[in-house]
Order: sequence, then structure tokens, then C-alpha cells
Amino acid sequence: MKALVTGGAGYIGSVTVEALLARGDNVTVLDNLSTGHSGALFAGADFHQIDLLDTGPVTKLLAAGDFDAVIHFAAFSLVGESVSDPEKYMRNNVCGTISLLNAMRAAGIRSIVFSSTAATYGEPRSLPITEDQPTLPANPYGLTKRFMEQAMEAYDAAYGLRMASLRYFNAAGASAARGEEHRCETHLIPLVLQAALGKRENVRIYGTDYRTPDGTCIRDYIHVEDLASAHLAALDYLAAGGESVICNLGNGNGFSVREVIEVCRQITGRPIPAVGASRRPGDPARLVASSARAREKIGWNPAKYDLRVIVEDAWRWHRTHPNGYE
Ligand code: UFG
Repeated sequence: MKALVTGGAGYIGSVTVEALLARGDNVTVLDNLSTGHSGALFAGADFHQIDLLDTGPVTKLLAAGDFDAVIHFAAFSLVGESVSDPEKYMRNNVCGTISLLNAMRAAGIRSIVFSSTAATYGEPRSLPITEDQPTLPANPYGLTKRFMEQAMEAYDAAYGLRMASLRYFNAAGASAARGEEHRCETHLIPLVLQAALGKRENVRIYGTDYRTPDGTCIRDYIHVEDLASAHLAALDYLAAGGESVICNLGNGNGFSVREVIEVCRQITGRPIPAVGASRRPGDPARLVASSARAREKIGWNPAKYDLRVIVEDAWRWHRTHPNGYE
């Protein structure tokens, strides 16, 4: 299989490249390195530093590449930032993806695995969330991802471009070689582990008065290697002629913010001070996925669903890379 991976220098993208190379696939990475890291690239994958909005170079790369499929990670993904700067999200996540789809069409590439998100649902109707729940994104980030799913459905109907859209819940953990590093970190587990390393004084708990057993938000944490394996399964599903599909990727277990901090204390053996803070706008109280469809349709089989294993792997990465990829 010859795959183009956009955003292959990012967190989930680089772990997926690692898995593709491990099974012997031929991989080319396209990344503008705006949020990705050159240190996350692999020597075994061809690399092109291109911005998806530069339609000419994108079209040229795809036309010459003889790719069987595209895995499209390259996007901005911070909910709060999307609220304060929606233009940035529309340009990159929507216009950039349209540029990519048009280049795929011109090159005759008919399969795409797309990074979508739990943020396409907004406030869930019931738990666990299944893919047939209404999609009412509560922020521009979720809106851009939902819009692109609909755009790809139209491209499928008109041009036969099939997609596997994977709606991630809370990605966490690390592989042996790659881990989570965001220049502006907002995610819970890396922030807690930074506190464990003494890089920050404490962890702020955003909201302690939610209608949950301990008052803090509940999320579904999914190991980044399990996310990567879902992309490989989705590639194989499309290669075997599977029709377009949208799948949740979570592990079906919800953990509260306090529970996550407690597990981090146990794994790291460090005290990790935590302080209550006001709610973060746009945070639903509970997000827990049903991933039954991913198991049934694309044959996904997650292996690292224990939160302790997720935190252990994340902790190993943070301890061995205290300054990330620098
Ligand atoms: N949280 C804290 N303190 C922090 C950071 C986070 O209490 O310092 C809380 C948040 O309020 C939330 C939970 O920890 O309740 C998880 O927050 P993250 O920022 O780690 O993750 P989110 O659930 O906000 O976001 C994730 C993905 C998004 C995706 C979203 C779907 O990172 O890309 O799920 O709702 F859009």
C-alpha cells in the first residue's frame, strides 16, 4: 500500500506513520510543520513540507505520487482557539481539505481516511454516543470537521471518492518512539504530567460542579496506538472496496478529571497538586463513545484501553522527553 499522510509530523499522525512503516507500507508525509515537529518524522517516510492551501504543489505531489489512499490528519484542533479565531479554522480545516480533495480527484485517488472528532456531536443526547446521534457542533472546530464529512459525502456521490471518517474522542498515551507535544498545551493528561515533572505548580480542574459523581467532566481516553491501528484498519477496509463510513473511536469507558489526576499520581508517584477553577466554556459534562461500529465495520480491535496503561505510556514519553522534540 502506498499512502500519503498529511499531518504526519503531528501527534496522532506520527504514531500512525510509525505503524504503517512497521507493517511495510510505503509512506509519504505532507506537513507544513506549523504545529507538527520535524523531530517526529521518520527516515523511512518521504517528507514534503507543503501547506495544503498551496494548491499547486499539493496537486503536483499527488499527481506524481501514485498513491493508493490519503490519510488526512493535517488540521487545527483546539476548541477554544476555534472560538476566538474561526477564520483560522475555516481556512485550514475547510479550504485546506477542499484543496486536498480536489488534488485527489485530479490524481484519481479515491480513498481517504479522515480525522474527525467527538466535537461534531456537541452536547450528546444519550451515552454512550453512537454515530446516528444528531450532529450539532458547539464550536467552529467541530463545525469544520462536520462540514468536511458532508463535503466528502457529496464528493463520494458525485465522483466516487470514498471516505472513512474517524471521530476521535480523547487521544492520549504514546508509542515507543513518538508522543504528545503541543506548542500550546491545553490537554489534560500532558498538563497533569508536566505538573508531575515540576514544570507547572499545579493542575487546574475546570469545573467541579458538573452533574457527575465527583462534579468534574467525564471523558473517554483512547490510546494513540489504538487510534493508529484504526487508521490502518480503515485503509484496508477502503482498499477492499468498503463504502464510505463514519466511526467513533473511543474505548467506551468514561473517567472524570479527578480520576485521571488520581491515576497519574499513582503511576508517577508524585503528589500533583490540583486546584478547582471555573468551567471552561463549551465543555460538555460527559463524552463517552460507543465504538461498536468501528469494530463491526472496519474490524478495529483496540488493545490498550486501560487508563493506567495509557498514563504509563504517556509518563514514559514525558519523562524521557521533558522538552518534547527539542
Ligand atoms: N481539563 C482540566 N484542566 C486542564 C485541562 C483540561 O480540568 O488543565 C479538563 C477539561 O475541562 C475537560 C477534560 O479535562 O473536561 C479533558 O480536556 P482536554 O482539553 O484534554 O480534552 P477535550 O475533551 O476538551 O478535547 C478533546 C479533543 C478535542 C475534541 C474534543 C471533543 O482534544 O480535539 O475532545 O469534545 F474536539
